[in-house]
Amino acid sequence: MTYKQQMDKKLDEIRKKSQVRILAIESSCDETSVAIVENGREVLSCVIDTQIEIHKRFGGVVPEVASRNHIQAIDNVCQEALRQANITFDDIDLIAVTYGAGLLGALLVGVSFAKGLAFALNKPLLAINHIKGHIASNYITHKNLEPPFMCLLVSGGHTAILRVKDYKNFELVGSTVDDAVGECFDKVARVMGLSYPGGLNIDKMAKLGEPCIEFTHKNILAGTYNFSFSGIKTAVINYVHNLNQKNQEINIPNISASFQKLVVGELSNKTIKAMKDFGEAKLVVAGGVSANSYLKAKLLDLCNKEGYNLYMPDLKYCTDNAAMIGSCAYFELLNGMECADINLTAKSTIPLFNN
Ligand code: KG4
Ligand code: ZN
Repeated sequence: MTYKQQMDKKLDEIRKKSQVRILAIESSCDETSVAIVENGREVLSCVIDTQIEIHKRFGGVVPEVASRNHIQAIDNVCQEALRQANITFDDIDLIAVTYGAGLLGALLVGVSFAKGLAFALNKPLLAINHIKGHIASNYITHKNLEPPFMCLLVSGGHTAILRVKDYKNFELVGSTVDDAVGECFDKVARVMGLSYPGGLNIDKMAKLGEPCIEFTHKNILAGTYNFSFSGIKTAVINYVHNLNQKNQEINIPNISASFQKLVVGELSNKTIKAMKDFGEAKLVVAGGVSANSYLKAKLLDLCNKEGYNLYMPDLKYCTDNAAMIGSCAYFELLNGMECADINLTAKSTIPLFNN
């Protein structure tokens, strides 16, 4: 029997168990995280070592620096996750790891560590799609949430409206044709001189301002479920550059509030339209931008008006974390996912619904 066949046989045994404990690893960007998750919904521990302070001085994530810091952190983070869950490696059924999408060097640290661990412990390894992990963060927060539902996916790398039909099958309703919304937040923050991570700082600044500025941009995708953020981004950048050239002061709170209102309006209006058109009643939000307080307030308001149920992850599971990877891995396991072979490698991009 090959190594993979042996591990797949073990997975079949694990599928029959009433209690499955997964050690999950996430290192796709600038968070080194290890979590222990039981039956996809209970987080026994989730340790997140963030590199925000390190990357702040560069104004964004420097891939090479991220990889080096993951290498330094990962073993301690793993030991700490076991300690907090009060278990040892013997109590783990399998290992799960994010294999994409993300920064290649950063992902490789998690993937290599996970492969070494799985091989040494003689336990199966599951390779998990980061984006599907973000969606699963809601299964941790909302214990009774089950598909089908509509999902608004808003992260640093992706923006999409999806129909999640069951734990495995997804249908793309609409997506961005250019920038992801998180990327747009980060670039607008940068031009105003706000520090990394930009999205969070725009959220904070917007609370101090008024949405009184009209940015001129062409709404090229009106009437569709697709998004375009690059025009909005350029309009804000031009607005700021214009004022800078005239030596006029820029009002960061008002620009933040106006930009945020515009972007959140796009996201929420198109999502609610999709809910109506497809006859869905449950809306699930996933990805780092789900931490945005204005997006939450706006969707809550619209969902209340329409009689829809809104689900958003707990704040600590909005941005990158390993608990969501452990949750996703559990449902992938139940849906028959095969174990990763020893030649598993990281992928910087993967189609949204591949694994
Ligand atoms: O999902 P995530 O942690 O990483 C990816 O998988 O891409 O998302 C990170 C993105 C960043 O662009 C960050 O600026 C944005 O999420 N973000 C926010 C907020 N918190 C994080 N954007 C708007 N408002 C926030 N409060
Ligand atoms: Zn993410």
